[in-house]
Amino acid sequence: MNTNPKHYYVTTPIYYVNDIPHIGHAYTTLACDVLARFQRLDGYDVKFLTGTDEHGQKVEKSAQAKGVDPQAFTDEVSQRFRDLLGTMNFSNDDFIRTTEERHKTSVQELWKRLMDKGEIYLDKYAGWYSVRDEAFYDEKELKKDEEGNKIAPTGAPVEWVEEASYFFKLSEWGDRLLKFYDENPDFILPKTRRNEVTSFVEGGLLDLSVSRTTFKWGVPVPGDDDHIMYVWLDALTNYITAVGFPDETHGEFQTYWPADLHMVGKDILRFHAVYWPAFLMAAGIEPPKRVFAHGWWTNEGQKISKSLGNVIDPIDLVEKYGLDAVRYFLMREVPFGNDGDFSHGAMVARMNGELANDLGNLAQRVLSMVGKNCNAAVPQHGEFSDDDKDMLNQAYAIIDNTREHMDVQAFNLALEDIWVVIRACNGYVDRQAPWKLKKEDPARMETVLYVLAECIRHIALVLQPFMPQAMEAMLNLLAVSPEHRSFDFLGEGHALIPGTSLPKPEGVFPRYVEPEA
Ligand code: MSP
Repeated sequence: MNTNPKHYYVTTPIYYVNDIPHIGHAYTTLACDVLARFQRLDGYDVKFLTGTDEHGQKVEKSAQAKGVDPQAFTDEVSQRFRDLLGTMNFSNDDFIRTTEERHKTSVQELWKRLMDKGEIYLDKYAGWYSVRDEAFYDEKELKKDEEGNKIAPTGAPVEWVEEASYFFKLSEWGDRLLKFYDENPDFILPKTRRNEVTSFVEGGLLDLSVSRTTFKWGVPVPGDDDHIMYVWLDALTNYITAVGFPDETHGEFQTYWPADLHMVGKDILRFHAVYWPAFLMAAGIEPPKRVFAHGWWTNEGQKISKSLGNVIDPIDLVEKYGLDAVRYFLMREVPFGNDGDFSHGAMVARMNGELANDLGNLAQRVLSMVGKNCNAAVPQHGEFSDDDKDMLNQAYAIIDNTREHMDVQAFNLALEDIWVVIRACNGYVDRQAPWKLKKEDPARMETVLYVLAECIRHIALVLQPFMPQAMEAMLNLLAVSPEHRSFDFLGEGHALIPGTSLPKPEGVFPRYVEPEA
């Protein structure tokens, strides 16, 4: 049993394997990775889960199109999602595949509980279904495309389906869901999305078809082999499978459930904020604490789609700009929760302006002065002036601001606030002009450089979750030992020790230079 009283369980959606990983997948997982790293450094025992959603009609169709068995198909394509973890330096603790035995046991048990509680009944489904969204739509939700065909609100094609089906009594959960949202005002973030979900539930819920008979690629319904479970019931359950369900006495279940955060894209909020808590409450299991719905990326102003051929491959981005610059850009560019646009111009502007200029130059000029003028060791400091104290206090305060923003997944605000301190450091260097002090007052120069080194230590510690490799390099340049890099070591109590020898300074953030045409 885990003895750390602070736990944090964060999950990504599990990805459909019929797609190749693109910027959207990388984005959702990145946000979770930054949070997971932040919480670990902040003393939490973290479980960070990601994985692949391998059942359903869409995957079965993709496998058929390739002429391979669905299991062989998913074995091959789910690997690409595991490869992405390494490319992006993601620190997940588990990777779940819905085709695993542990998951089958878990979903079947959840089904049995719902059945035993009278929450599921057998009937017939006649209605619209979208294979692309793996979602049932009510007639009144549908729109028409240019040719007059009915399409889903997402733009996906729909087909009329008539088959025997088990139904979950979702219609009976509306009031309890609304009460739950009311009692847990931060269950759905951002707030605008919460209103959207509340109106949907207030509009009245229909019972939900939770099994299919017209294809085979799924988890069989216990006791009725003609049916396989609806892929979303199957997929959502991954979040409890991974903590040991159906064994609720399991150490991980006890420690981590209910999950602290399901991170999802705005398109799949309804499944997570309506269906999932209803399934759980109906089975007598506590719902998760929060669902955060982030926005979507466009590419140079255009919707990203395979047919437009403008899908952004995270591997290409990383090769072109470097991993940590990409991680920084994605977390900084848009208010988290809003849609964002990826453009080469915006990427280079942030890379060169904020990383190379603001932060890279600060570190480079401070550390090279220290290297040349302080015997390549942490400078000796004298009395601190008011300006010095003010600068140091700003650095000490970074963590409190950052923590507040991270608590509500406001990554962009966390970075903005850290950059306020970086810019304050640049102002302080210009004001104190240590290069002038070198001749006039070398002792004072050392104090100024000490203050700056200590500020850079704070900045680098707090930026680790966003840019782990670059900050590792920066902390190495300050000779901060690997055991002294958690947030316990922030503050003056663990300040740099004057006289500690430092390695030769090296630039951490190269400027992006346009390759010759
Ligand atoms: N398999 C389901 C999730 C089941 S979770 C129990 C699924 N998979 S998905 O692969 O289609 O999508 C995964 C995530 O990628 C979603 O959160 C979606 O919002 C995100 N994105 C897909 N395209 C995106 C962008 N263009 N921009 C940002 N995120 C996007 O849905």
